[in-house]
Amino acid sequence: MLFSTLLAALTGASVVLGAPSLVKRQSNGTTPAASVNDTQVLQFAMTLELLENAFYTQGLQKFDQAAFEAAGYPFWVRNRFEQIAEHEATHVDFLRAALGADAVSACEYNFPLTDVKTFTAVSMALETTGQSAYMGAAAVLTDKNTLTTAATILTVEARQAAWVGSAVLKGPAWDGPFETPLGFNGVFSIASQFLVSCPASNPPLPVTNLTALTVNPAAPTHGATVTLNFTQPANADSSSLFLAFLRGQSPVFAPIQSGGNGTFTATVPQGLQGTIYAAVVSNNTAAATADANLLTGLAMFEFPFDSFANNNVTSS
Ligand SMILES: *[C@@H]1O[C@H](CO)[C@@H](O)[C@H](O)[C@H]1NC(C)=O
Ligand SMILES: *[C@@H]1O[C@H](CO)[C@@H](O)[C@H](O)[C@H]1NC(C)=O
Ligand SMILES: *[C@@H]1O[C@H](CO)[C@@H](O)[C@H](O)[C@H]1NC(C)=O
Ligand SMILES: *[C@@H]1O[C@H](CO)[C@@H](O)[C@H](O)[C@H]1NC(C)=O
Ligand SMILES: *[C@@H]1O[C@H](CO)[C@@H](O)[C@H](O)[C@H]1NC(C)=O
Ligand SMILES: *[C@@H]1O[C@H](CO)[C@@H](O)[C@H](O)[C@H]1NC(C)=O
Ligand SMILES: *[C@@H]1O[C@H](CO)[C@@H](O)[C@H](O)[C@H]1NC(C)=O
Repeated sequence: MLFSTLLAALTGASVVLGAPSLVKRQSNGTTPAASVNDTQVLQFAMTLELLENAFYTQGLQKFDQAAFEAAGYPFWVRNRFEQIAEHEATHVDFLRAALGADAVSACEYNFPLTDVKTFTAVSMALETTGQSAYMGAAAVLTDKNTLTTAATILTVEARQAAWVGSAVLKGPAWDGPFETPLGFNGVFSIASQFLVSCPASNPPLPVTNLTALTVNPAAPTHGATVTLNFTQPANADSSSLFLAFLRGQSPVFAPIQSGGNGTFTATVPQGLQGTIYAAVVSNNTAAATADANLLTGLAMFEFPFDSFANNNVTSS
């Protein structure tokens, strides 16, 4: 609940970034295209790792053991977050060494560190987005050894997400039989909510800045009608837009109704489980959910499911 409420609230946060350069690409999955070279992939990964590193550093500086215990967590929860923080710092060091002169520098960040519960919710969002980013990037890495190395980080991000989701948040450790890969634009639409500014000396990231999507209510249930707020792309036909819910590699679509006064609504489909990303797309085919074709940035939802649920819906 908090998780998605938080993320939706953040979508409105102000972002002051240098205009990212647009790298020409073509792709038909949620993955970015092959025109991005391995150096750029690692620079993008390092940008995310620096963000995660800053998040855990700031969060654990702000919230001591007493704060975690006051929030209802046993002593070992903060200790495990310390270990995660060390992982992210090590990933940064590793990528800095791998990139050498091409390494990127840290940005200025704005994390909503209001309380410990918010910290855990953002941690869940960042770990989940991190694993989706590495999954998407896997498709464009050309060097097989780099791919294996990236996989060793990807699995750590996934295990961290599973630990936060289950041990900390007391929900499921997984979403379903398949996790969801994301391309650079989609990932950046989430990460950029935490960026205030980045050093001008950093190389341009291979991303397009997508327009923000906010969904109300931010934590909808199956079958709920949600109101969407986004800037309609000039060349898109508003009578045929869809809200694509990304899960595994089998997106599900909800037609978007235009209220005619700049408001849009859609109905949340049945069967969604766990962490689900959503974006406005131009039609209800998988091609429209390709990273280069997304019409808005991503919203993130958490659909809880209990231990008695059939957790096989992504194969249907
Ligand atoms: C990037 O998008 C955000 C909204 O998601 C917006 O606030 C910001 O001004 C955009 N930046 C540029 C350089 O277009
Ligand atoms: C996706 O793109 C690849 C490479 O361009 C192509 O071989 C494949 O047929 C495409 N798949 C779909 C479903 O369009
Ligand atoms: C990767 O692409 C960037 C941007 O086009 C370029 O500046 C850089 O030289 C490329 N690096 C390699 C190793 O090809
Ligand atoms: C929709 O989003 C725009 C831009 O972020 C914002 O100015 C506006 O207040 C939002 N409208 C509603 C109804 O939330
Ligand atoms: C837009 O129209 C819908 C009905 O078509 C109405 O429910 C809604 O309140 C209107 N919103 C605004 C901001 O005028
Ligand atoms: C769906 O949208 C994608 C992206 O704009 C486009 O490439 C594709 O041709 C469209 N397919 C249909 C059936 O309209
Ligand atoms: C999972 O989905 C597959 C394919 O639809 C189906 O054959 C199988 O029976 C399902 N398993 C469960 C436990 O529902």
